Amino acid sequence: MGELTEIIKLDATESTNLYLKDLLSTLELKDYTTVVAKKQQKGRGQLGTVWESEGGKNLTFTVLKKLDNFKVQEQFKLNLCVSLAVQEALSALSIPNVKVKWPNDILSGSHKICGILIENMLKGQFIKSAVIGIGLNVNQTKFDNLEKASSLTNVTGLQFDLDEVLGRILSSLKYHLNNIQEKTFEEVLPEYEKLLFRKDKASTFKNEEDHLFMGIIRGISEEGKLLVELEDEKMKEFSLKEVSLQY
Ligand code: BTN
Repeated sequence: MGELTEIIKLDATESTNLYLKDLLSTLELKDYTTVVAKKQQKGRGQLGTVWESEGGKNLTFTVLKKLDNFKVQEQFKLNLCVSLAVQEALSALSIPNVKVKWPNDILSGSHKICGILIENMLKGQFIKSAVIGIGLNVNQTKFDNLEKASSLTNVTGLQFDLDEVLGRILSSLKYHLNNIQEKTFEEVLPEYEKLLFRKDKASTFKNEEDHLFMGIIRGISEEGKLLVELEDEKMKEFSLKEVSLQY
């Protein structure tokens, strides 16, 4: 804590996740080394999607978290802590009603303002380092063909200083990740579930075959799956590619 973080600022790159992973393969990097780009030519999203972001108006950055003796089975704890960190930093900036849509989309109301893509670097059974990519829509105001997307400006009517917002998110990430090895999943989960979008509300989901069904989000399993109570009151676990919440 309190130590200076290396921040690498780029005008443009394909993807800041890719850039950090390439660096990591050749150099010894400090914990929390950050790569931030004004523009990504090939920003990546979850499940092979593309992350679109207008150059110069938003934050697209990747943070390195080095880990020691952190088992692959614990990986969802990283998602929990990163989502909590971003939620807290945005709430501290007075962004209204910041929620987490499982696994780690950050919403304001029902609009997505931030996406997170965590890529884990493994060695055997362990995660040696996590490459945490964050795309936060800040001052962009038009989102063509992205009806669910919004930005800090669109939800507050204000302009934000990108470096200041980045600084706040980095501090919050350090606060939530510094002692992640000592925290258990059970300790962190309740905080995350408090912020979970549409928890305990009847919702419509779509499965892989594009069929719609009703259910109620009840929580998250230790492997990070979504626990949904179905109409017959049976509980079912879903992985990210098996289900999408319609909202
Ligand atoms: C999602 O919601 O699908 C995740 C989006 C993650 C986007 C960020 S932007 C910075 C980093 N570099 C990438 O290529 N992707 C992540």
